[in-house]
Amino acid sequence: MAKQTLPTFIRNLVKIITARPQVPPSLENNQLLRTILNRRSIRHFTHREIQDDVFSTILEAGRVAPSTVNLQTWSLSTFTDQTWKELFGQPIPFHGKRAIIILADIHRGKKVMDFFPHRPLVEYTLAVINASLAAMNMNIAAEALGVNSVMLSETGRSGFLDAQYLKETLALPEGVFPLMTIVLGYPKSGYRAMPPKLPLDQICFAGKYKEAEPGIMQDWFSQMFTGYKAEHPFSSFDAQLELYRSKIDQAEKDLNGMVFYSEGKSSTEG
Ligand SMILES: Cc1cc2nc3c(=O)[nH]c(=O)nc-3n(C[C@H](O)[C@H](O)[C@H](O)COP(=O)(O)O)c2cc1C
Repeated sequence: MAKQTLPTFIRNLVKIITARPQVPPSLENNQLLRTILNRRSIRHFTHREIQDDVFSTILEAGRVAPSTVNLQTWSLSTFTDQTWKELFGQPIPFHGKRAIIILADIHRGKKVMDFFPHRPLVEYTLAVINASLAAMNMNIAAEALGVNSVMLSETGRSGFLDAQYLKETLALPEGVFPLMTIVLGYPKSGYRAMPPKLPLDQICFAGKYKEAEPGIMQDWFSQMFTGYKAEHPFSSFDAQLELYRSKIDQAEKDLNGMVFYSEGKSSTEG
């Protein structure tokens, strides 16, 4: 990405800082709505512990999430800061106090109802959809309890981009795939700028697909660049993209090996 001029940087920064969710005033006092709209990924946590009852309530929100045919195709691998360090040899990313690794799980159900044909891509899609819904339920439940979070798929080798590493470290059987980690903690600062979100009329249309406008997409990407530079002044956006590029190649190979396992293997292993 080409360097940004100072006026563009400042213009973008103002847009980011002043952006707010668009809600009619008559609805904006709804507590749940405010929780959803004000949620932000938080990457700075205090030393305050998350009590067991709070943490188990967050997990309960994951347990009761909706899923295709109520198959509940997820598993949750949970950690305190101590158990994470014991297993991974480093602190939870961003010094979170608890972490949940969300696993798409098409292994467990096969123990009692192995009547669907083995169709890896369908099974994988279904499990990813459902596990992600459970993740979001937990994320919102955490917010409602004053606990903030960030979901991770790259930072700290914590998600699908490090699928093979997590498969080995967590001893995952065939049919169980790491998706992301939710890092949880109490926030250090109260300030929460909203990262640039695409306008509703670019992502939403009545019926048939509508292409987004190139100029608006460019403007959004330019704001993304500004947001990154504002948060990481000494880091390179391009280097970060390059890191993703290299990890994506490896993850594609690893996930192919995991998703397209041979028929019959999943119900006998693990
Ligand atoms: C599945 C998933 C994976 C993510 N992985 C990372 C990550 O590895 N590192 C990180 O700092 N943020 C990660 N994020 C957080 C996103 O960067 C963040 O959601 C996005 O910038 C929008 O910001 P917001 O959550 O405050 O709206 C991830 C988010 C999701 C949903």
